Amino acid sequence: MEILHDIPALRQALAKRERIAFVPTMGNLHAGHHALMRAARQYADTVVASVFINRLQFGPAEDFERYPRTLDTDSAQLRAAGVDVLFAPAEASLYPEPQTCFVEPPDLQHLLEGAHRPGHFRGVATVVLKLFNCVRPQIALFGKKDYQQLMLIRAMTRQLALPIEIVGIDTVRAPDGLALSSRNGYLSPEEREEAPFLWQTLCALRQRLLEDGAARHGILEQEAVRALDARGWETDYVAIRRRTDLLPPEGEGAALVILAAARLGKTRLIDNLEV
Ligand code: PAJ
Repeated sequence: MEILHDIPALRQALAKRERIAFVPTMGNLHAGHHALMRAARQYADTVVASVFINRLQFGPAEDFERYPRTLDTDSAQLRAAGVDVLFAPAEASLYPEPQTCFVEPPDLQHLLEGAHRPGHFRGVATVVLKLFNCVRPQIALFGKKDYQQLMLIRAMTRQLALPIEIVGIDTVRAPDGLALSSRNGYLSPEEREEAPFLWQTLCALRQRLLEDGAARHGILEQEAVRALDARGWETDYVAIRRRTDLLPPEGEGAALVILAAARLGKTRLIDNLEV
């Protein structure tokens, strides 16, 4: 595996590669990331991963400074996973001058995660487009764990006519149901025991929806929030939305997804479940 830290070296290393599948990450890799790498191998003969903690997508009060930086173990894992090229740019290489040019994603950026993390998706879309321009892949893979992020990347790719196929990969979970996340490492042992309750809440809500299709969504959402809050969570949202645009469904028949974000102590966890 080649490891490259700046854009010219990356471009040179990839110049003769014909079909590239690309998996962008912020490192601190776990089995969820590994699933993306394995899937990438099925689409192309060259697999490129990136590890870059993108300052632009963190709010001023968020965890940019303490986000785990584990490049040595990450690169060992990527090598073992058969990744061909790791792009791990220094911040000065990706942002040599202040980034004042941004990708403004569609209005979907202001819902749900976007409402609680202003500017987050603008930062994500900007770095992903920039990474796409560095790597120039034919395929790029993203996890459904970050459902809204995946939708926004798809919209950006479509609307800006990027010649890239976007592939979504199912969420990888711990045996107790907790969605794997780099942020799970922040949890204390007690919080880690409680953490699967977020997933259990989504499953219970889906069950209620399937049993009673006419149930009022607002009431089901409030029940779920109360169940979380009663156990000490601070819930940002539990929302039953249309899969197509993440807006509240009007009438019946739309394919749905339930999305949630809640804080356990200092750690903010997100999860979702398609109905
Ligand atoms: P990061 O959180 O490192 O995630 C990298 C990719 O792994 C994303 O596509 C994410 O959805 C996926 N992923 C994370 N946990 C997963 C799980 N349990 N199962 C399946 N896939 C999972 O998402 C980002 O980084 C950044 O926003 C990035 C796209 C790299 C832009 O900076």
